[in-house]
Amino acid sequence: MKSESVALLPVSTECERVCVFGTGDIGRSLGLRLIQAGYSVIFGSRQPQTCNFLPNGAQVLGHVEAAQTAHLIFVAVQREHYDFLVPLANQLEGKVLVDLSNNLKKNQYPEANAEYLQSLVPGAEVVKGFNTLSAWTLQNGPSDANRQVYICGDRLEAKQEVLAVATRMGFSALDQGSLSKSRDLEDFPLQLFPLWRLPMRIATGLTAALFFYLLIRDILHAYITQSKDISFRVMVSLANKVCPIVSLVMLALCYLPGVLASFLQLYRGTKYRPFPDWLDRWMLCRKQLGLLALGFAFLHVLYTVIMPIRYHVRFWATERTVALIRQNRTNEFSTSAAWHSDSYLSFGILGFGLYVLLGITSLPSVSNALSWREFSFVQSKLGHLTLLLCTIHTYLYGGIRFLNASMYKWYSPPGYMLSLVVPTVVLLLKLFLLTPCVDRTISRIRQGWERGVNK
Ligand code: HEM
Repeated sequence: MKSESVALLPVSTECERVCVFGTGDIGRSLGLRLIQAGYSVIFGSRQPQTCNFLPNGAQVLGHVEAAQTAHLIFVAVQREHYDFLVPLANQLEGKVLVDLSNNLKKNQYPEANAEYLQSLVPGAEVVKGFNTLSAWTLQNGPSDANRQVYICGDRLEAKQEVLAVATRMGFSALDQGSLSKSRDLEDFPLQLFPLWRLPMRIATGLTAALFFYLLIRDILHAYITQSKDISFRVMVSLANKVCPIVSLVMLALCYLPGVLASFLQLYRGTKYRPFPDWLDRWMLCRKQLGLLALGFAFLHVLYTVIMPIRYHVRFWATERTVALIRQNRTNEFSTSAAWHSDSYLSFGILGFGLYVLLGITSLPSVSNALSWREFSFVQSKLGHLTLLLCTIHTYLYGGIRFLNASMYKWYSPPGYMLSLVVPTVVLLLKLFLLTPCVDRTISRIRQGWERGVNK
């Protein structure tokens, strides 16, 4: 955007003319994009003489004069200032007004801004739109991530006019219906990571519950029963239990809704009945669940990598060696122990490798380059394989300790045993769904077959 003030240029008659009310960030950025799309832009302002920093090539006039120059008028003004439009009712008769305004919070006013605007100038055709774009996006043009513009309004012709302008600006406009939908469009920019909310709650709840469970079991138990202070373990050992457990459970929770949906379709014998709301919401946030789970797995790997440099690990390793030297003893190399540790570590590494692949392919720039078949192969087939590898890693880590009674302090199972419950259930259910006769029925249902309807 140029910083010099705007000279009053003769209005071009060749290119189509649009008017923008409002010379703030949004108005100026919109004006710039409109000019770049080939429109002649007239700004309407209360004080046209004092308007600075408007895009090169734009004109600025008073509201009345500006309103007369174009059929399409963008209103890039806060709702509190709409009053200035009332005296312009005659000039705005039959014109299309695009309302770009947003609010600071949901339900700030009894009716949507666009509906309020329509009530102030009933002779005009109000269309809500462009409010989901930031000034930055308007200035820099559409990119893959923010190409969509939502619009709504009561008159089809008015919406088509706005749709055409949006398309010429490089956006893809989606008609959301009548003006009564404008409340939803105005609430849209106020949403704060809506799809992350449930996964964040699950992650926080699981982390807190596990932390206290393991704190009591692993640290308080030693303090109370043996007067041993091992509280330092909170920092790394405990964290390195909580992170992988949360990660494994959340990974399983990514695949559980898909399995439940298959069972529901199998039970109903049709794919044409909608899923319950809770299942829909759960399925919609699987990507976020998976990405958070991957974050916890990363932490687990980092905590594992630093193990050899921890003071208490180095101390006990040296102590053990010194004790062996003093007693003039050597330890026998145990091939089975080596097999055990190598195998669980190897499964962990393979699982983590696939986990990262799942995370990468869920990024829009990567997933957009994949066909639906490729995407579902990675996310479903490789996803279940990842869950299987991580579950085997944990089973192998547990090894024979599952049978050791001393592991059940205060009759409570260790964390890794708890972590295996959900993944094992998901994998068993999936195995059932993969059996040939069940798989055949599910495939037929997904191709449109309905029990009791088709032959
Ligand atoms: C435990 C290594 C990836 C889940 C462990 C332990 C090690 C380890 C050394 C034992 C920790 C201890 O003694 O306190 C690795 C390596 C990985 C990897 C090197 C990959 C580079 C994963 C992944 C998951 C996972 C991707 C699944 C999300 C677990 C679980 C435990 C565990 C649930 C048991 C935690 C406990 O209660 O002590 N892993 N791991 N690991 N790992 Fe992994």
